[in-house]
Amino acid sequence: MASVTSLTDSVQQRLANALSATLPEAADADPLLRRSDRADYQANGILALAKKAKANPRDLAAQVVDKVVTGDLIKDVKVSGPGFLNITVTDKAITDNLAARAADPDGRLGVPHSENPGTTVIDYAQPNVAKEMHVGHLRSAVIGDSVVKLLEFTGETVVRRHHIGDWGTQFGMLIQYLDEHPHELDHKAAEVTGEEAMSNLDRLYKAARRFFDSDEEFKTRARRRVVDLQAGDAHTLAMWQKFVDESKIYFFSVFDKLDMEIRDPDIVGESGYNDMLEETCRLLEESGVAVRSEGALCVFFDDIKGPDGKPVPLIVRKSDGGYGYAATDLSAIRDRVFNLKANSIIYVVDARQSLHFKMVFETARRAGWLNDDVKAYQLAFGTVLGKDGKPFKTREGETVRLVDLLDEAIERASAVVREKAQDLSQEEIAERGSQVGIGAVKYADLSTSASRDYKFDLDQMVSLNGDTSVYLQYAYARIQSILRKAGEVRPAAHPELELADAERALGLHVDQFAETVAEAAREYAPHKLAAYLYQLASLFTSFYDKCPVLKAETPDQVENRLFLSDVTARTLHEGMALLGIRTPERL
Ligand code: ARG
Repeated sequence: MASVTSLTDSVQQRLANALSATLPEAADADPLLRRSDRADYQANGILALAKKAKANPRDLAAQVVDKVVTGDLIKDVKVSGPGFLNITVTDKAITDNLAARAADPDGRLGVPHSENPGTTVIDYAQPNVAKEMHVGHLRSAVIGDSVVKLLEFTGETVVRRHHIGDWGTQFGMLIQYLDEHPHELDHKAAEVTGEEAMSNLDRLYKAARRFFDSDEEFKTRARRRVVDLQAGDAHTLAMWQKFVDESKIYFFSVFDKLDMEIRDPDIVGESGYNDMLEETCRLLEESGVAVRSEGALCVFFDDIKGPDGKPVPLIVRKSDGGYGYAATDLSAIRDRVFNLKANSIIYVVDARQSLHFKMVFETARRAGWLNDDVKAYQLAFGTVLGKDGKPFKTREGETVRLVDLLDEAIERASAVVREKAQDLSQEEIAERGSQVGIGAVKYADLSTSASRDYKFDLDQMVSLNGDTSVYLQYAYARIQSILRKAGEVRPAAHPELELADAERALGLHVDQFAETVAEAAREYAPHKLAAYLYQLASLFTSFYDKCPVLKAETPDQVENRLFLSDVTARTLHEGMALLGIRTPERL
């Protein structure tokens, strides 16, 4: 494998060698190397070591400096402040490093695979059957998709699970309603599919819900229908299957619009665990993890109490014998641990479900299904807010349909694209418009840390300036345009050339891609990658302002600057792909 040792790691190794040569007992000490504005890197680790060895930190630092091998990699190392080391690397080391990255035959820019990959099951993009997707479903899909890509890139085995809401009381209600109002299905849902069918189904669902809430007798009939469904009654099951199939067609169309691949076998909804529910309850009851309370099967927690001070249990089985959301999730954990062999299970779910997951995970730990080797983690995300800072709603106060929102983003982006590039055909404008619009929506979501709420502001999202995907896409397209203009002259590294400050800053940042990806994957934090990419584009912009590329002084310098531009573009492209965002060649 052609992984490239980063400059940071190489410098770190040099310092560690010098440290252990100076202080043998510091052989395993971390020099605490960071990128720095004052030099290329700063190492702060000597302070703590000096304290331990009861030595003067500046003296110790000076001794270490004497032992640092310089020349090829490290150009200069100086003591600064109370005992920091300021380190500058050679221009040659920077260019050599980038050349090795560009030459990686796997096209991974020298990014290594993680040392001990495992299996992660990720639960994300989980809409509900017979309901339209709304803005709340956006985050789970977008964040989950990026985490999948990041983990797979590091070599992790990833199993995707779309835990769709396809089971429970609401289906009894819907099926019963349709049985009682057969004409509603005939003229509404018979001939249409996709978005329109789902919009009809959503309306029927709401009508059924109104009946259910206001008519006690209907409620009883609907409940009986749930029992029929769970018992496998053929007619009831056939109707249910129809809703599921119709909904899936719709889900696929929305995910397609989101430029996201969702595979049918990965859709394992709540219904998929139906056959495990009874056993899950039995195991929990036999082990004493769950107890009967007022007819229900419950798990209690010392630290979880309601406003009245009474403990709030996790209800695994209701007093009427019905199973709810928790029983399904507990069964899914058993499946993921024992059948799918997960080492980690991630749930990309709204923070408003945190209490549910806290209780479910704790229950699974008590049952021995989760432990130090098999961990579950809720990647909890915040709420999407409107411009007014309140949860995003339509003017009429209804939840916003995801498709409407995506269509609007595409429309706005198309306007921006049309205005900027006069030489694009209508077809190209449409294609770029959707890549830019969907990219804008994804980037706005991924560039804030998941746990925070953010404002859905299309004006800001499609702006060419600032921390937006459009800015990054333009940086990429601009580099492609430079490479096209270069014609016969191809990018080539010239390690013997001296580098300007802007070139060094850009090169050192490109080198950090591997570490950034590793960190973003380890912490399930795509926003760290987004921040890195934004800085990469900004550093490219200042490089481009200060260093003429095609008009550089010598032919070698032209080639070297083309090379720097090219490796920047490839890093941008790879990084954006890990966020699920396209980088069009022309904009
Ligand atoms: N369908 C649920 C919703 O829309 C999200 C499911 C989350 N995953 C899970 N395993 N509970 O809120």
